[in-house]
This record gives sequence, C-alpha cells and structure tokens, in this order.
Amino acid sequence: MSKTKETVSNLLKNIVRVFKLSWEIDAKLVFIYFLTSVLGAISPIIAAYLFKIMLDKIVTNTIITTQQNNIPLAIIFILAGYFFMKFFESAFYWGLNVNYFDKLLNNRLLIGLDRRYIKKMSSLDLGHLESPETQNLITRVKFTYMEHVPQFLRNWNNIFRDLISIVSIFIALSTYNLWIPLVILLVSLPRLYFKFKLGRSSYSVYAASNPETRKMWYITDLLTDSKSIIETRIFQSQQTLFERLFKLQDSILDAAQKPLKKYSRTLMLAPFIESFLAFVIIYWLLPEALAGALTVGSITFIVSTMEQLRSNIVSGTTNCGDLYGHNLFVNPFFELLNLPKLIKERKNSRSIADTKPPRIEFKNVSFSYPNSNKKVLNGVSFTIEPGQSLALVGINGAGKTTMIKLLCRFYDVTDGEILINDINIKDLNLANWYSHLGTLFQDFVKYKFTFKDNIMLGAPKIKDEVRMKEAAAQAGAADFINKYDQKFEQMLGKDFEEGEELSGGQWQKLAIARAFYQKAPVLILDEPTSAIDAEAEYEIFQNLGTIYKDKTLIMVSHRFSTVRNAGKIVVIDDGKIIETGSHQELLEKEGKYAQMFKIQAKGYK
Ligand SMILES: Nc1ncnc2c1ncn2[C@@H]1O[C@H](COP(=O)(O)OP(=O)(O)OP(=O)(O)O)[C@@H](O)[C@H]1O
Ligand SMILES: [Mg+2]
Repeated sequence: MSKTKETVSNLLKNIVRVFKLSWEIDAKLVFIYFLTSVLGAISPIIAAYLFKIMLDKIVTNTIITTQQNNIPLAIIFILAGYFFMKFFESAFYWGLNVNYFDKLLNNRLLIGLDRRYIKKMSSLDLGHLESPETQNLITRVKFTYMEHVPQFLRNWNNIFRDLISIVSIFIALSTYNLWIPLVILLVSLPRLYFKFKLGRSSYSVYAASNPETRKMWYITDLLTDSKSIIETRIFQSQQTLFERLFKLQDSILDAAQKPLKKYSRTLMLAPFIESFLAFVIIYWLLPEALAGALTVGSITFIVSTMEQLRSNIVSGTTNCGDLYGHNLFVNPFFELLNLPKLIKERKNSRSIADTKPPRIEFKNVSFSYPNSNKKVLNGVSFTIEPGQSLALVGINGAGKTTMIKLLCRFYDVTDGEILINDINIKDLNLANWYSHLGTLFQDFVKYKFTFKDNIMLGAPKIKDEVRMKEAAAQAGAADFINKYDQKFEQMLGKDFEEGEELSGGQWQKLAIARAFYQKAPVLILDEPTSAIDAEAEYEIFQNLGTIYKDKTLIMVSHRFSTVRNAGKIVVIDDGKIIETGSHQELLEKEGKYAQMFKIQAKGYK
C-alpha cells in the first residue's frame, strides 16, 4: 500500500514539475493545448444530448401532428446545434489540438528541454562526471528525456481530457442510473493494473541494463570513431569487438521483450470483458424501454454516452499506464537537473580586483580524488609570486596535472588550503578567478571550426583580429595558416565540409595561440609543446618570455630544454615536493632533478 502511495505522490509531483517546466518554456501554447482538449472533451457529450432532444421531439411530433411537411423550428435549431458541436469537436480537437498544437508544443518542448539538459551537463562538476553513479544517471537520461518528458505531458493532457469527459458523462448518466457509469469504471481496473505492471517492468529492465548499455555505446564508439578505427583495424581487434557488441545487444533486446510478451496476453482479455458488460447493461435496460418508461432519445443517449465513457476509460487507463511508464524516465531527468553543485561558491564570494597577476600559495595541500582513498597530493606547500614563471617537474602520475586542476578549483582540496592574494580559493568568485586564468591542458580541445574561431574562442568577448593574428604568429602557427587559400577562415577537421586536418603539433600551436590571444594574467601550460618540434618550441618560449614578462606562467613539461627557463622549478614525486629552486641551484644540489636532467641530456649526446 505504501508503495502505491509513493507512486501516486511521485506521479503527482512530476505532473506539477513537468507542467511547470512546460509552462516556463511556452505558457501560451500550453494553455491553448489544454483548453482545446477540454473543448474536445465536452463537445461530443453536448452533441449527444442535442441528438437525444431532437429524437424525442421528432417522436412526439409524429404522434401529435400528421402534417409531414411542416418541420418545427426547434428541431431545425437543435439539428444545427448538433452539427455545430460536431464541427466544433473536429475543428478544435481533431484539427487544432491533435494535429497542430500537439506537434507545435512537442517541438517547443524538445528545444526547451534540450537547452536545459545541455546547460546542466556543461556546468556539472568534474567530481560528478568521474563518478560511475552519475555516469549511469546520465546514460539513463541522455537518450530518453527527449521522448519521455514530452510524452509525459501529452499523456497528462489526454488524461485531463478523459477525466473531464468522464465526469461530465457521470453527471449526465447518473440522472438515469448511477450504477451504469460505476460498473463501467470498475471493469476498467484490470486494464489499468496491467498497464502499470508493464511500465514498471520495462523500466526495471532498462535500469538494470544500464551499465550494459553504456558498454554497448562505448564499443560502438570504438568501432565507428575515426581515431579508434585506425588502431582497431591495424591490431585487427574489430572482430573481437563486434562479437562483444552483438552479445551485449542480444542480451539487452531479450530483456526488453520479456515484459512486452507477458502483457500481450492480457491485451485480449480486457476488451472482451468490457464489451460483454456493455451488452449486459443494455439488456438490463430493455424492459424499461419497452414499457415506455425510457424515451427513444434517452436510450440513444445512454448507449452513445456509454460508448463514449468506455472509450474515455480505455484511453484514460492506457494514458495512465503510459504516464506511469514515462514517469519512470521523468524521474532521472529531474534528478540530473537537480544534481547539487559539488564545488559550492559562497553567497558573498570575493573577487580579485585588478588584472595584475595575484600571489598564489599552496599551503599544506593534500588531496584524494572523490571515491578514492589514495592520497595523490600529500602536504604540498609552495608559493608563486606575481609575475614569476614556475615549472612543475616529476615522473608520470606524480600529481602535476592534479595540482593544476586544484588551482582551477575543479575539485576542492581534501586538506590544507590554496590562497590567491591571501584569499582562500573557496571564497573566490569563480567567474572572476577564471577571468584571470588561461589554461592549456594535456588534452586540449580541437575545435572543428575555422582557424580564427580556434584562436578567438580563447576570449570570445574580445573581438580583435589584429590581436588574433599576432597570437598566431607568436605561437608559431601563422606560417602554416597562411599557406591555406582561405587563410584564417579555413575550416578544420574532417567532420564538416571543406575541413582540413592538421598534424598533432599544428593543433597544439593553434591551442597555444588561443591561450596567447587571451593574455590572461596567469597562464597555465600543461605539456603544451610535447608534440611540437624543437625549433618551434624554442621560438614559442622566446615569445613567451616577452609576452609573459610581467605575468605569471605555470608550466608542466617533461622537456628540460623548456623547464630550465623557468624562474622557479618545483620537483614532485609521489604527491610530495622533494626539491625547489632554479635550474642551476637544482643541478648543484645533485638530487632527483639533476639525475633526471642527466638522463635526458645523455640521450642527446
Ligand atoms: N580523475 C581521476 N580520478 C582518480 N584518480 C586520478 C584521476 N586523475 C588522476 N588520478 C591519479 O592521480 C595521480 C596523479 O595524476 P596526475 O594526472 O596528476 O599525474 P601527472 O603528474 O600529471 O602525470 P603525467 O606526467 O603522466 O601527466 C595518478 O596516480 C592518477 O592515477
Ligand atoms: Mg599530467
């Protein structure tokens, strides 16, 4: 019982939430949609009633007058009224509601929901994105909300229409006999029950197959993405991947069909019970009619509204069942939209006033990634003075990228604090902080737009083509860009027409140009030159020296030719700082840095 109660309260909650959301998207359209539904519900009943009056009038008139060619005016009016109601129903309901507003609203909802989904997804914290639980939730929502949320509203609209119709018929029929509508209503309960069961088992199949579905999509990506095709073809791993994919597909399909097959048996039973019952009711009324206690008009009215009632109930229960089915997908949609922020900004967050580079301090910082006990950083302390250039050095997995992610506040530190101009990063306004930061990550973005877009997306608010070309030159990208006929307007990547693919190093130079274009007071480069030839790298860092003379530069690199130029070098090993100093100081120390430097230098001898 409590489960049913829970279901009903959840349904009601979602009806309100979906209605509110739709209202926000297009209030006028939602109002007209529901209004035409109500008109569609009432008009057939009024029509049936007018028809009853007309029939009764005709019968009494044939008894009283024998003059056949003298048609009473009242009958003509009622007949006209009857056809007017018929017109009303077909124009407003079947015409406008079903075939126009419904589709219009559906399209509006799709766009409105899509925007909310994308907005939420793009603002999710990394901690969410890296949690399998949230990934499952995203999978549940990603390919379902576009279908199920608009369907949920459509079902609710249909139920609303059926309810209005049922209530009107109840009132009309109960003037004859209250039992008739009550019995019809009771008989429809099995149909409703089966529909609910189908909805629930379909969803549980879907939810249970979620990790499977994600694996299926992942393998599909591997087999269809141009980057992985190159590898899977040479390694000849495609057949193995195909087999894995087919196995997953078969098991998902099998599970999805089971509840459908079970429901198909009950599909026949319900209509039989309902038709038989209608027969019994009319049979039961016949003696009364034959005795003249019920007029011909009344009998016709009862039969036709009973049919209407039955069809409303069938449609209502079907819609209730569908509503329940869609509701199960509506829940995760709202769950995703309402995911709380992991990185919380204070209400009275503080800003760094000027555009000068701030002082950055890591104070005893320790960190473990969410859902992991491993201490990736352990008591890290160091400062970066305004305008200093700092290099982070260490073997793979030492924790360099992690430190940068913390500085961008993608995660909060587990222990200790990060201070920006002596303000805890947790108290900073993030938009303000990001306006001071320029970053280039190991896996930077290759925008499949033009060269110009690729650079100018570094600071979309500044629209300065001269500055853009200057940045391209400083990053060593201008030479190869100018070789294309379209120059900076050249489209990139093979995803769209007339796009040109670049080499790994060329993409990297373009990404550096993007960072240079932004000219942020603090620039973070996480291995930005790994794919760039030595000559170009030398030039880029020469340029960096001039562009970033008064700004802060934080770089991560495995190349000592790059690192040695930094004013301060921090050596990290296993999440701890083991050495700090300039290139010369660290060489003299003959510690880990000197050792790594010598190994690399030996390779060049
Ligand atoms: N998103 C994550 N979730 C959990 N652990 C992570 C995550 N990213 C990195 N790690 C772990 O944190 C440790 C440090 O990783 P990090 O990326 O900071 O290393 P790095 O010094 O940048 O290495 P590289 O030189 O290879 O880029 C690694 O042991 C890694 O396994
Ligand atoms: Mg890294």
